[in-house]
Amino acid sequence: MALQLDHVRRGLVVTGKSGTGKTTFLARYLINSPRVRVRFVFDPDGPLSIRLGKRPVFTPQEMVAAIATGWVVYNPGRMFPGQSETAFDFFARWVWTVSARIPGRKIIAADELQKWTGTHRIRQGLALCLDTGRQHGLDSAFIAQGSNAIADRVKAQTTELVAFQLVTPRGLEWIEELGLDSQRVRRLPRLHFMAADLEAGTCHWGRLDGGRVLDPGESPPMPSIPRKRGRGA
Ligand SMILES: Nc1ncnc2c1ncn2[C@@H]1O[C@H](COP(=O)(O)OP(=O)(O)O)[C@@H](O)[C@H]1O
Ligand SMILES: [Mg+2]
Repeated sequence: MALQLDHVRRGLVVTGKSGTGKTTFLARYLINSPRVRVRFVFDPDGPLSIRLGKRPVFTPQEMVAAIATGWVVYNPGRMFPGQSETAFDFFARWVWTVSARIPGRKIIAADELQKWTGTHRIRQGLALCLDTGRQHGLDSAFIAQGSNAIADRVKAQTTELVAFQLVTPRGLEWIEELGLDSQRVRRLPRLHFMAADLEAGTCHWGRLDGGRVLDPGESPPMPSIPRKRGRGA
């Protein structure tokens, strides 16, 4: 297939301390993003497959077969037991390669990126997805707990930054470097976030609610937030 040069690459990073809503946000983002042909999700521990209600795939045959469903939620536990960094590199290379043959928008996603990549240096698979993903119509959506846990090469390819509450000075570093309101991010209540479009230079504040993302003006008072029931809570 020809290079997909009309694709405008989007790179989302979601950050925040633990328990603030990051995984829920990423799951919704993957479900709600429009016009996505395939979501490729690296999910060693399984939280995303549970949140998404998708069965994980374990083998190359299953990965290929899942493409047609629009969701490849990959659990590397059988192919790479105890070797998550190698597994992520394999997955990212494979996603980059197959994306060249699939027209339309694709997203590679992972929770807790700092566990599968170095926080300073990244391996070739991720570098390919970030630096030349655009040619294959491939976007990215990653979670990292604090902004100090994100490699510079990932930062450089980030177009949208979503921050839930961060409290440590190191975790807030990138927010500060970008000139965003780090003091407000420090005080964010659970499930509230800042969403910055780094290309447009715009920023808005929102909150996760039952099934959608609310704008700040719409938010009902915190105590009335419905508790999520069932799996994944
Ligand atoms: N809209 C919501 N209303 C109430 N609780 C929620 C909502 N969204 C997520 N939660 C709960 O908040 C907790 C933390 O969410 P999670 O996405 O796992 O955070 P993180 O990934 O940052 O650790 C989970 O127990 C989740 O079920
Ligand atoms: Mg999480």
